Amino acid sequence: MTLLSNQAFDILRQIPLYVPGKPIQEVQRELGLASIVKLASNENPWGPTEAVKARLRKAVEGSSDEGLGLYPVSDGYYLRTAIARRRGLNVDQLILGNGSSEIIEMAAKAALVGGGSAVAPKHAFAIYGIATQTAGGRFIECPCSPTELDVDAILAAVQADTRVVFLGNPNNPTGVMLGREGLERLVRDLRDDILLVVDQAYAEYEDPETYPDAKAYLEERSNLLVLHTFSKIHALAALRIGYGIGHHKLLALLERVRSPFNTNMLAQAAAEVAIEDYAFEAMSRARNHEARQAFLKEAQEHRCQVTGMAGNFMLLESMLPAAELFKDLLRAGVIVRPMQGYGLPNHVRVTMGKPEEMDAFWAAITPILDNAGCGCR
Ligand SMILES: Cc1ncc(COP(=O)(O)O)c(C=O)c1O
Repeated sequence: MTLLSNQAFDILRQIPLYVPGKPIQEVQRELGLASIVKLASNENPWGPTEAVKARLRKAVEGSSDEGLGLYPVSDGYYLRTAIARRRGLNVDQLILGNGSSEIIEMAAKAALVGGGSAVAPKHAFAIYGIATQTAGGRFIECPCSPTELDVDAILAAVQADTRVVFLGNPNNPTGVMLGREGLERLVRDLRDDILLVVDQAYAEYEDPETYPDAKAYLEERSNLLVLHTFSKIHALAALRIGYGIGHHKLLALLERVRSPFNTNMLAQAAAEVAIEDYAFEAMSRARNHEARQAFLKEAQEHRCQVTGMAGNFMLLESMLPAAELFKDLLRAGVIVRPMQGYGLPNHVRVTMGKPEEMDAFWAAITPILDNAGCGCR
């Protein structure tokens, strides 16, 4: 049976599959466990808010201009207006995606439309490579240590045919961040015909006073695209919505690869409410900070190494192979993310949940580490 041309078949087989966090229902189905804690996909355990849920109920109910039977506003004009107000931007500096992952795909499609390569640091979000390859581009992973984002290494990895560079700041899964100086150097020293995508999915978890927001360089570099998502601090992962900020001329080009109606009406409506909720954001940031501090302390007591201190997750290194630790934790009802596929064979990534969820995590992992002779208690 011939499914696709030999050439397409060979190219597609080379593209790694994205492995998402294991859903709770799947673990229930497979292991028959009643109580499961999911700390695998960097979701926000504190939301969404009642105001967001009320807006969703109203949208489902419908009105003369909004309802499940009507197509959504294709370009998300009203949500873009709300984001522009909140972030001090013009509406034409914003584009929406079905999750920020879709904007990563749009950026790759647009930048690599005539071929070429994309660069991203090693140990970064898997979609950078997948989006590059599905757009027909060559993916160059630059050698970076898991403990540092190295601007020189990124710049050195750039080739003559490079058309786009992806940087997660903070980086997922390592939780490390490029400071203002490093970011400035990348913005200024990267060849000016290369699209620079700074993915700020976890930016809102950092102190707004000190976070080096790439948005500050939009005037300086017209081919800069800054990404945000509603999946993390805004707690709307199920609705799939994110936004990109860039020069209006750059976004006009991305428009050409955007699917019509790419973001749905419920997501747009919920995000309009969420973007205004400063208090929920501040609460989530504070709780996340507390959770990270508590996690660090526990990790030290368990003699586990922790990498990075940014984002709503921690990368934990133990003596056990990640796949083994992941399975043992699963059997104990805790879902984390094993990181061997990211070149981190002994690391699992743990999302910062509610205190009781973190207690469940440590209660599950302690006997596993002790039995393996690598705990300390
Ligand atoms: C660094 C980074 N960027 C982007 C995303 C995608 O988020 P979404 O597509 O849900 O907006 C994620 C999700 O985990 C991420 O970790």
